[in-house]
Amino acid sequence: MASKLDALNRWVDEVARLTQPDRIHWCDGSEAEYQALVELMLDTGDLSELNPATHPNCYLHRSNPSDVARVEHLTFVCSRNADDAGPNNHWMAPEEAHQKIDALFAGCMKGRTLYVIPYCMGPIDSPLARCGVEISDSPYVVANMRIMTRMGEAALARIEREGSFVRGLHSTGDLDPAKRFIMHFPEELTIKSIGSGYGGNALLGKKCHALRIASWQARQEGWLAEHMLILGLESPQGETHYVAAAFPSACGKTNLAMLIPPAAYPGWKVWTIGDDICWMQPGPDGRLWAINPEAGFFGVAPGTSRSTNPNALAMLDRDAIFTNVAETADQQPWWEGLPEGKPATDWQGRDYDPANGPAAHPNSRFTVSAKQCPSWSPRAEDPQGVPISAIIFGGRRESLVPLVFEARDWKHGVLVGAAMGSETTAAATGAVGVLRRDSMAMKPFCGYNFADYFSHWLSLDKANAKLPRIFHVNWFRKGANGKFVWPGFGDNMRVLEWIVNRCKGGVGAVETPIGLLPRKEDLKLAGLGLGEAELELLLEVDHAGWAREYAGIGEYLESFGARTPALLQQEHARVSGELAASL
Ligand code: GTP
Ligand code: MN
Ligand code: MN
Repeated sequence: MASKLDALNRWVDEVARLTQPDRIHWCDGSEAEYQALVELMLDTGDLSELNPATHPNCYLHRSNPSDVARVEHLTFVCSRNADDAGPNNHWMAPEEAHQKIDALFAGCMKGRTLYVIPYCMGPIDSPLARCGVEISDSPYVVANMRIMTRMGEAALARIEREGSFVRGLHSTGDLDPAKRFIMHFPEELTIKSIGSGYGGNALLGKKCHALRIASWQARQEGWLAEHMLILGLESPQGETHYVAAAFPSACGKTNLAMLIPPAAYPGWKVWTIGDDICWMQPGPDGRLWAINPEAGFFGVAPGTSRSTNPNALAMLDRDAIFTNVAETADQQPWWEGLPEGKPATDWQGRDYDPANGPAAHPNSRFTVSAKQCPSWSPRAEDPQGVPISAIIFGGRRESLVPLVFEARDWKHGVLVGAAMGSETTAAATGAVGVLRRDSMAMKPFCGYNFADYFSHWLSLDKANAKLPRIFHVNWFRKGANGKFVWPGFGDNMRVLEWIVNRCKGGVGAVETPIGLLPRKEDLKLAGLGLGEAELELLLEVDHAGWAREYAGIGEYLESFGARTPALLQQEHARVSGELAASL
């Protein structure tokens, strides 16, 4: 088979000449194709079958133990001009990068099959959707791309109609970490990734295309590609508000997107539109309209349970791929935080021994179609997307940062997003629990200079714009006993309700230099068992502590040099001034 699009055929030929595969397979996205790939991987040992009685059509993949997370130090943005990549990215000159990585691709598919994977990010008939083609030698990648994107014939037809597509070339190579690179060429709409089979490094539609390349395109075309969940909050009266929220990796997006309101909220419903990526565009009405470019979830397994995320658990008992989880004695998937069952085999396939650390890798993941999610919104397939009422930023902060506050206006909100800090997690390799700035949760994903990105955000504030209100949340405040003060999970509904009430108007707030905080009486806290002192802590604004935080934020903004927008600097000076005056 080949395509009607010469440019695509030529590129496939060119890649085949370089990588020398034994076979070429054009993916049609069919069920039969998926089953054949599964059979193949069961034969090669890439997958093992989980208990078909409890988990029909569920499979376990164990990755190489040196290949379990995104690798930010090996991820490059190769723009022509180094300044366009910014200090927030590793940069390499495009010619050098091509040379370096093509040398690793030479002959790397000998004995393997080259899969051509046409995919569409977003509903197939959506004007906001964009297409790409990934070439990969990994059947695991093909199977995951079929769940995570609209993959196959329909996508190829759209690509042939449009004539353009993002090119992604991937090979697992020999998995040698010294020969691993994830490179982006935004001006060429091209991605090249070698040496890793792991999710964010290998499923190129996700972080590489839908965030790094798309953010670059979005800036040129006047829209936003963000690391955000999208949910709809429906009141008992049937009114729905859509909210987008950016939290760094492993900080609660998937959990919040699938929230089930607690008993104190009869008749309320949370609808899931997306759990990781949001593409938003100003509509003719001035509002931001958002789609989820993905079709599935690649979620963190540990901590997912019937009590923390019942919707996720309900979709994980069939038709799912598990990566690096543990297994029970009767081949059921298992991870830390799951009260049922116990591990017999750990994520590396060894007999479970607590001396070896956790049974499931802390960044072990499930891949599952979004259609299986009980809270999946019918509006998720709407080609126009959904209108966003509120944007929420948040991170892991064990001290200082209150449960929730609202920015005064758009430019203050952009500062709040740019200033985001979070303690690092296991989703990327490196130390865990270290505070780092992660503007808009996009530090690992913005495909261009953060200073230009801040300017782009500010530029959306046009005369006719009806922009969402901007909020900041923190579920991770710890008490003197070292435990989380806020119960979180389903109870985050109480914060969502306040946010939506603020958007609707008619509920007051407490003004502070860092923004607007809830009045205690406006938060529905019944049934939480939260003491007065704990509530005080959650809503406290420590002016001296914030003055120090703002000094740090100032240094961070300076680190982008002259490209940092003056408006952001002024906003920073305004808040710092108010903090200083209040001491
Ligand atoms: P990526 O998929 O990597 O982008 O991350 P994510 O933001 O989707 O993270 P996810 O929802 O999977 O969160 C994972 C971790 O956050 C788990 O350890 C959860 O237990 C924890 N978590 C999520 N929500 C809450 C909450 O409200 N409170 C507390 N304390 N922990 C939470
Ligand atoms: Mn993510
Ligand atoms: Mn997630």
